Amino acid sequence: MNFLEQLKEKVKLSKQRIVLSEGLEERTLKAADIVLEEGFADIVLIGNADAIKKEAAHLQLKNIHKAMIVDPENHPKKEQYRDLLFSLRKNKGLTLEQADELVKNPLYLSVLMIKSGDADGEVAGAENATGDVLRPAFQIVKTVPGISVVSGAFIMVLKDKQWGDNGVMVFADCAVHPDPDANQLADIALASAATARNIAGIEPRVGMLSFSTKGSAKHPFVDKVVEATAIAKSKQPELQIEGELQLDAAIVPAIGAKKAPGSKIAGHANVLVFPDLQAGNIGYKLVQRLADAQAIGPVLQGMAAPINDLSRGCSVSDIVNMIAITANQAAGTFN
Ligand code: ACO
Repeated sequence: MNFLEQLKEKVKLSKQRIVLSEGLEERTLKAADIVLEEGFADIVLIGNADAIKKEAAHLQLKNIHKAMIVDPENHPKKEQYRDLLFSLRKNKGLTLEQADELVKNPLYLSVLMIKSGDADGEVAGAENATGDVLRPAFQIVKTVPGISVVSGAFIMVLKDKQWGDNGVMVFADCAVHPDPDANQLADIALASAATARNIAGIEPRVGMLSFSTKGSAKHPFVDKVVEATAIAKSKQPELQIEGELQLDAAIVPAIGAKKAPGSKIAGHANVLVFPDLQAGNIGYKLVQRLADAQAIGPVLQGMAAPINDLSRGCSVSDIVNMIAITANQAAGTFN
């Protein structure tokens, strides 16, 4: 059984309620149908019930009747969610009238459902841009205590099994925070280690990447990675983490031994933490395309509730897989 099938099995009995904000989007609806047929999560679809039922019939989907449908324009908890949004954001200048409008936005409605305990996790992004999916989550759900920033990890499954743990590695941040400072980069490292352990099922050996290895170059960019490594070590002294490392020193044993002698992690890293989002986003796509690796994610880490963003180019099976990951995050099956 591959690791995604295992995730589905693990969560099947707990029936987490996953909200799909884009309830009328074709791939999302097809994915919902598969999840409902396989029965590993309950599904909440946001959208007009008649329109969803019509589209499901048109697509010949057989299981959509098992989903709960919430119409953003007309549902019993509209005022309750509006008041919750207003109370959470009035100190940021949000008016009641603005809250009244925003609550009709499916991306806000989904997050308000989670905040109210009416749903356990959200998957969106098949038709909305990353920023639009993330902003309501940042504003309403916020980060877990002890982590200052949300970031996005990819679980990379490589064809060449010599890398990472039998070909499995975790890369971050590849999706969210454009320019982390040293503290934020340290938190990204800690969250990525947790993702490696809890979701990818590997014991993390974290490489903090740079264009320098152990002082080979001097630059403020390098200083940031050195500082982040020290902060992460001070927060979790038992964590296996090394930095700053060039990519080859992080993953090639002979080069790690030469450039960072005495390090147990250099040459053996299975979690790669990139210094900023440009490096991380380019890095995972290079490996995905040139090495034909499977890139599972982005798995959002550091958020106080499981909310995951899809790529707008995602396939139906990408959405099904992301629902499986989100349901597992919600169930806490990893802890
Ligand atoms: N973690 C936690 N909270 C955050 C984060 C973060 N990484 N970033 C912003 N916030 C919070 C802010 O503190 C603020 O909260 P507040 O209103 O309660 O004070 C709120 O979110 C809005 O902050 P802004 O700075 O206004 O954030 P903005 O909306 O401008 O940007 C965003 C956030 C949209 C995520 C931005 O960082 C972004 O666009 N990132 C890049 C996303 C992207 O395009 N990724 C690449 C594509 S994904 C892929 O290829 C897989």
